[in-house]
Amino acid sequence: MITAIYPGSFDPITLGHIDIIERAAKCFDNLHVCVMINADKKNPMFTPEERMEFVKKAVKKYRNVQAEAWSGLLTDYAQQKEATVLVKGARNVCDFDAEYQMSLINKGIKPDLETVILPASSAYIHFSSSMAREMIRYHQPLERYLPAEIVGDVAAIARQKNIVRR
Ligand code: PNS
Repeated sequence: MITAIYPGSFDPITLGHIDIIERAAKCFDNLHVCVMINADKKNPMFTPEERMEFVKKAVKKYRNVQAEAWSGLLTDYAQQKEATVLVKGARNVCDFDAEYQMSLINKGIKPDLETVILPASSAYIHFSSSMAREMIRYHQPLERYLPAEIVGDVAAIARQKNIVRR
């Protein structure tokens, strides 16, 4: 039984993340999508609770995928879940370089934790949460970038928070 973790800020979760989740869910018995709520990111567009709700809705259809939030070290979360694999996506060599470095840090803390880096599918190599946030700000059609299950909620929250520029 192999339990894997797919961590990230998910501000918000995009179709690029879903691509990785769908593929990782086929490789491992259980996949925990972990919304890191203390991720070193300034000015998130969405609160941890909002990001968590989006992820929960977007992964509901996958039988062996669960969404959770965590505010500590990733390796402690892996320990708690008895997970042996960290899943990361890489769109290009910059992503790979950053993920490689993080994998060494995590392995230094927890040597039995392997990082598996999945290359992004070609349809999503230009996708990112920051790009999705721009599309939200400029009132672009969100179904191109975000899972269908969250488009309505994201648009409603963005309107409420006065994020959308007209
Ligand atoms: O979606 P992101 O922001 O690129 O994800 C980065 C994230 C949250 C996975 C990374 O910053 C992380 O693992 N943070 C948790 C704290 C931790 O364990 N740090 C040590 C590993 S670098």
